[in-house]
Amino acid sequence: MRLVFLGPPGVGKGTQAAKLSKEYGVPHIATGDILRAAMARKTPVGLEAKSYIDSGKLVPDDVIINIIRERLGEPDTKKGYILDGFPRTIKQGEALSKMLDQNREKIDRVIYFYLNEDELVKRIAGRWSCPACQKVYHTINNPPKKEGICECGTALVQRKDDRPETVKERLAVYRNETSPLIQYYEGQGLLSKVEADGTVDEVSEKVENAFQKSSS
Ligand code: AP5
Repeated sequence: MRLVFLGPPGVGKGTQAAKLSKEYGVPHIATGDILRAAMARKTPVGLEAKSYIDSGKLVPDDVIINIIRERLGEPDTKKGYILDGFPRTIKQGEALSKMLDQNREKIDRVIYFYLNEDELVKRIAGRWSCPACQKVYHTINNPPKKEGICECGTALVQRKDDRPETVKERLAVYRNETSPLIQYYEGQGLLSKVEADGTVDEVSEKVENAFQKSSS
């Protein structure tokens, strides 16, 4: 099972990928999480990525493609994975195809999540995440059991790139640089569209229906 989750910031890609990854026992590979972990450890990649992420811009393609090439070479990816936040440009999409071709592998499905912009902004404004285990919460829709504390016991934080002016930039970058991938994958017959409204469980059901319909 090799899935790509595509969609604007705050639509719920990470939430759905985490849930499905547990259910199907395949790794959830989120480039945003990998970059934030590198930033926290102050690695060379983390230091390079910081200014792009903090300003809502995309990290250069070559940096991201190398990260993914390395990650997809790890043994836990052999039975599949869910890619969340990659590819994000046509160049990244082409690089992914090449990597897969080299191993005679294919993407099974690209799930494209969509939602109106007001709702995206609300979801991002209420998001709190765990810097240790990366679990994501929402103050209203999905609050932690203990206020401000993750189930793993770590204090929750708000992402710096979730400030309103940066969110505006991220939405513009999504429209200009990432949304062309919708047509790219539609042209390859790989795209399933999922409206991401409703509860987390309702959206999961739509994702599973889209995935199962395409594989039957
Ligand atoms: P990244 O971390 O990938 O951010 P993103 O794509 O902008 O997506 P988000 O994490 O904001 O949202 P999401 O769709 O995962 O939503 P979530 O599940 O959290 O990237 C960050 C930055 O890293 C980029 O700007 C870029 O600089 C860099 N980067 C990353 N990948 C890159 C790449 N490939 N190339 C170049 N640069 C790259 O949900 C949002 C909130 O809504 C949560 O609070 C959640 O609890 C809540 N929620 C979820 N589902 C529901 C629901 N059904 N109902 C109500 N609330 C819900």
